[in-house]
Amino acid sequence: MLWTIFLLLNGLLILVLLYSTRRRQKNEPPLDKGLIPWLGHALEFGKDAAKFLARMKEKHGDIFTVCVAGHYVTVLLDPNSFDAIINDTVFLDFTRARNQLLKRIFSLQLPKINFMENKSGHLLPHLLVFSESCIHSFSYHTAAASESTHTQNKLFDILGNMLTQKLQRVYPFYVHINRTYMQFFMLEDVSACLVGCFSFQCNAGPAAFWLLGFLLTHPEAMEAVKSEIRCLTLQDTSLQHPPINPLEAHSTPVFDSVLSETLRLTAAVMINREVVQDKILRMANGKEYHLRQGDRVCLFPFLSPQMDPEIHQDPQIFKYDRFLNEDITVKDKFYKKEKRLKYYTLPWGAGKNICVGKEFAVTAIKQFVFLLLTHLDMEMCDPEAKLPPVNPSRYGFGMLQPDGDLQVRYRLKMPQHKM
Ligand code: HEM
Repeated sequence: MLWTIFLLLNGLLILVLLYSTRRRQKNEPPLDKGLIPWLGHALEFGKDAAKFLARMKEKHGDIFTVCVAGHYVTVLLDPNSFDAIINDTVFLDFTRARNQLLKRIFSLQLPKINFMENKSGHLLPHLLVFSESCIHSFSYHTAAASESTHTQNKLFDILGNMLTQKLQRVYPFYVHINRTYMQFFMLEDVSACLVGCFSFQCNAGPAAFWLLGFLLTHPEAMEAVKSEIRCLTLQDTSLQHPPINPLEAHSTPVFDSVLSETLRLTAAVMINREVVQDKILRMANGKEYHLRQGDRVCLFPFLSPQMDPEIHQDPQIFKYDRFLNEDITVKDKFYKKEKRLKYYTLPWGAGKNICVGKEFAVTAIKQFVFLLLTHLDMEMCDPEAKLPPVNPSRYGFGMLQPDGDLQVRYRLKMPQHKM
């Protein structure tokens, strides 16, 4: 008797699962629910989203829907079709994605700095801690130089905890940074301010780390950037007369190419939107797909276009001149299947919700690296050291985080020393 009830209940459960769970409807993208009901692909997604999505792309192509912890997410990996998502503010909504990001801000961890000084006068920090700390101090003082409201002051207090005496010694320019970079902090929108705060911590610091790390581990790239800087006619950049923005009004295509290549390899944001009304998605190849209200849609430009071998040859390799033409102008023509691409990298997003901190972040990162190269002698403690691998659980949240660090040593250049 007990066995019969048990078997009946099991049968009932299987029927409920079969009929209540989702099936692919006509004109919908391929559906991959995974083996575990409700959880779907959540575990694989959380462990290494890039690997998982590459596997799904191989199986289903440029568009598919996956189940992740009860949510159905349509992933679009054809850069020529991105505009249909990025520019749609009627059927798709960005607010929810932003709020999810804000949740993470409250677990913000600011790194503690522990500098050691050795006998030769070199400071011995780890490159990641050093880059993040300098970038944060830079950002904090830029912000503090502008007129601030109560809410902004709170944000600045968090960022201000980053400052240390040691840092002031080697990086004394921060108070002079042009206040206009922080105009977006004047926005009424507090959540945008918070996203900005998060970005200081999680995006600009690691970006500076990767950029410096690639330069230190690729001598030909370092030499190309230094030689470009040597050719600039700069104002006095001495510590006594620090300029506000030494690179302003200078064209630096080599430096820009190194930054673009760094972001191509390490910017791995997921652009998420919620489908607020049923939508027909028209792909660049003419196919149409139905997106269901309540689902999410996600672009992952890291996989395509950034790491797509059909667009970028040897995508895993750092090539400092990838974004340079032969005549040392900026290269912006890239093709996939002979079709020119509008989005050949997408580190800042695009459309209405493009990163508002882009100009500020680019200026901060470039100036930080420029000041280091012009005022410090810096080298790796172990000349054979390699860049640490990326932390695979961080795909999707902006800049990739290194799983480890690089130890470097540096000291202030003697005035007579050339770069
Ligand atoms: C390397 C550094 C950075 C990268 C790679 C980056 C990337 C991005 C991306 C891809 C988006 C668009 C997200 C979407 O469309 O779903 C975004 C949005 C945003 N970013 Fe950045 N970001 C960086 C630095 C910064 C900095 C330093 C700030 C502020 C100081 C900032 C503030 C913001 C804000 C407020 C938004 C939301 C814009 C909106 O609400 O429409 N970002 N960022």
